[in-house]
Amino acid sequence: MACTVLVGAQWGDEGKGKIIDVLTENVDVVVRYQGGNNAGHTVEIADERYVLHLVPSGIFRPGTVCVIGNGVVLDPIALMAEIDELTGRGLSVNGRLFISDRAHAVFPYHRAMDASKERERGQKDGIKIGTTQRGIGPTYGDKIMRTGLRMADLVATDFADRLTERLKEHNRMCAATCAESIVIDAILPPYLDAANALRPFIADTVTMLNKAIADGKSMLFEGAQGTMLDIDFGTYPFVTSSNASAGGACTGTGVPPQRISRVIGVIKTYTTRVGEGPFPTELKDKTGEHIRAKGREFGATTGRPRRCGWFDAVIARYSAMINGIDYWAMTKLDVLDELETLKVCIGYECDGKTIDTVPASLDQLAGCRPVYREFEGWLTPTADVTRFEDLPPKARHYVEQLCKLTGVPLGILSVGPRRANTLRISI
Ligand code: GDP
Ligand code: IMO
Ligand code: MG
Repeated sequence: MACTVLVGAQWGDEGKGKIIDVLTENVDVVVRYQGGNNAGHTVEIADERYVLHLVPSGIFRPGTVCVIGNGVVLDPIALMAEIDELTGRGLSVNGRLFISDRAHAVFPYHRAMDASKERERGQKDGIKIGTTQRGIGPTYGDKIMRTGLRMADLVATDFADRLTERLKEHNRMCAATCAESIVIDAILPPYLDAANALRPFIADTVTMLNKAIADGKSMLFEGAQGTMLDIDFGTYPFVTSSNASAGGACTGTGVPPQRISRVIGVIKTYTTRVGEGPFPTELKDKTGEHIRAKGREFGATTGRPRRCGWFDAVIARYSAMINGIDYWAMTKLDVLDELETLKVCIGYECDGKTIDTVPASLDQLAGCRPVYREFEGWLTPTADVTRFEDLPPKARHYVEQLCKLTGVPLGILSVGPRRANTLRISI
């Protein structure tokens, strides 16, 4: 596998967790490079269903080392809960989970600011971002403002003083922004407990990862969210606060670009989005409801119903360009099994012109009308198919056309949530 980056190519929830779990059969190290516990990566193994928020999805392979990179914003209390849950289900992370000492910590005041900012947006113009309210934006904000606290601070002997200082500043700002004011005694004890519990996991992962590469280890970089939620390339401001695209794998881990040998894009055979923001191919009808029910499209982190729509080849091409995607891991083909007709967006009609790029202006994007190509449905179950050649011809045609329209070959096709529902395509 050498060094492979795996990114979500749409608005998140493409099935990254499942694909990472499948791929890590042959990988030495899996590294999360951005985001925080806003992510929800689902892995189904036999009858067990796990949802991971911070722990990399390679954790189910006993020989795989899992690293939370410096680009991640980490809520220590949430990570403790996740480790406890995994341990309770018989999975030990000891000795093979490492956390970057440079990763920034999420504190309750970040969550409070996230919630208060959303309330404020709702009151102002009624348009919230629809964040997961995990404090992600404010924590990255502190990082960029150079006022954040990192894992290295969490385990420092004077952590209590550092947090007290930060809290004073937060409370001063709260007076102006009407976010709730927080007292140190309410938050310090659980963070001191978490610091003690997490100390053995915190390490100089930048040096560790570069040494592993020098030693010939294979590595998989686990992206969270998706390219259209990327802070630079997504539908700003309806995005998350980090670089979910492939570039984030270098800044979020300290591994230089020339070490990256491949980029895999995970993409659904249709599109979903959670939260607000433009979504040109959204289906607000019975077909959308059918996809939501059959695909179990409810947020893995917040439980919110996901908005569902047709595959958007404009978005997919844009994503392939930004990430340099070598091949697709296409997911959830089985969800489309019962549809008589399928549509794929091949361009946008915008101000009287047809365009095939994603406009930066949200007003323009919101005004874009998708130009569709129709495909006949295959009306046959695909979940038990194990070879691409054995798919119903119309399903094969649909997938082949998605690849043709996006200019990216198929490497993996997923027809169900489990490991066995995975077709490897030789390219
Ligand atoms: P992630 O955030 O990209 O890891 O994706 P999520 O875990 O949030 O959402 C993907 C959902 O689809 C999960 O419930 C997976 O178990 C499920 N899933 C993944 N691949 C397939 C597939 O090919 N078919 C079906 N039916 N479900 C899938
Ligand atoms: P995974 O890794 C889907 C969305 C939120 C909101 C926007 C900003 O499971 O694919 P944030 O809390 O990050 O400030 O919210 O981003 N969002 C996701 N949507 N999958 C995710 O992660 C997401 N993480 C954040 O719904 O619209
Ligand atoms: Mg998810």
